[in-house]
Amino acid sequence: MTGIDVAGKTVLVTGGSQGIGGAIADRFAQFGARVVIVDVNEAGAEKAANMAAAGQEAHFVRCDVSRADDIQALAAEVQAKAGTVQVLVNNAGIFPRADLLRTEEAFWDRIMDINLKGAYLMSQAFVPGMIEQGTGCIVNIGSTHASMGSPDAMAYAVSKGGIVTLTRNLAKGLAHHGIRVNCVQPGWVASEGETERIRATGVNPDEQYAEVGARLPLGRMQTGEDIADSVLFLASSLSRQVTGQILTVDGGLSLR
Ligand SMILES: NC(=O)c1ccc[n+]([C@@H]2O[C@H](COP(=O)([O-])OP(=O)(O)OC[C@H]3O[C@@H](n4cnc5c(N)ncnc54)[C@H](O)[C@@H]3O)[C@@H](O)[C@H]2O)c1
Repeated sequence: MTGIDVAGKTVLVTGGSQGIGGAIADRFAQFGARVVIVDVNEAGAEKAANMAAAGQEAHFVRCDVSRADDIQALAAEVQAKAGTVQVLVNNAGIFPRADLLRTEEAFWDRIMDINLKGAYLMSQAFVPGMIEQGTGCIVNIGSTHASMGSPDAMAYAVSKGGIVTLTRNLAKGLAHHGIRVNCVQPGWVASEGETERIRATGVNPDEQYAEVGARLPLGRMQTGEDIADSVLFLASSLSRQVTGQILTVDGGLSLR
């Protein structure tokens, strides 16, 4: 019998303290998974404690996914706290805006280090355990910016283009180990990080969300839960023959 069969599985969610990652952590926990929130944001510790108080199994480990030494320490801690990882969700990301001429080298490096190198380092750290088990799942969180052009978010868009390539590359390389690798591309989600970014530009986020949502084909902005449900699908046996795919969840934003 197939279904949303993630109960008892160890699921790592990077950037799981808030926003889309927070919703992903909640969804997996609701379906009985053992969730490990991996984040630099210590709010994840309280979130994991609240989840545990509600009878779910959740842990928090502080880790900067752009740092190989942090990830090495994470791998040891996860093994001790939650055992071998069956599902890795590479969600942690930053999305500051700049076009080519305003993109400084350090700005570019920071975005690539977190959004792209982080996914590579995390995969490298946790794939050996999946190979040993002969099964595993990686879901990378990309963005529709990967293929939209997006000149005002140049480095960010390139980092998410890299996530598409990483997804296809790992999917092909790891399929014979029973490991599936897919990507979910959200369109526009009213996450904490996005709300903060919009507010910093002097725009009222609620007004912007209402205006943008009304213009989308499906009539509203996406929520973290909209994204989390697609991640859950890609991590369950409902998608057992799906690998190397990019699933766009954008309410029709990218339709032409
Ligand atoms: N919000 C959107 O509209 C949108 C659209 C498309 C794609 N995405 C992608 O979704 C993902 C989540 O975004 P969000 O909107 O929920 O953002 P968010 O800012 O609300 O949450 C991101 C989380 O990642 C964590 N994080 C940042 N750098 C980290 C690092 N070096 N190591 C570990 N954790 C780190 C943050 O602390 C935070 O908890 C990102 O990859 C983003 O690019 C978001």
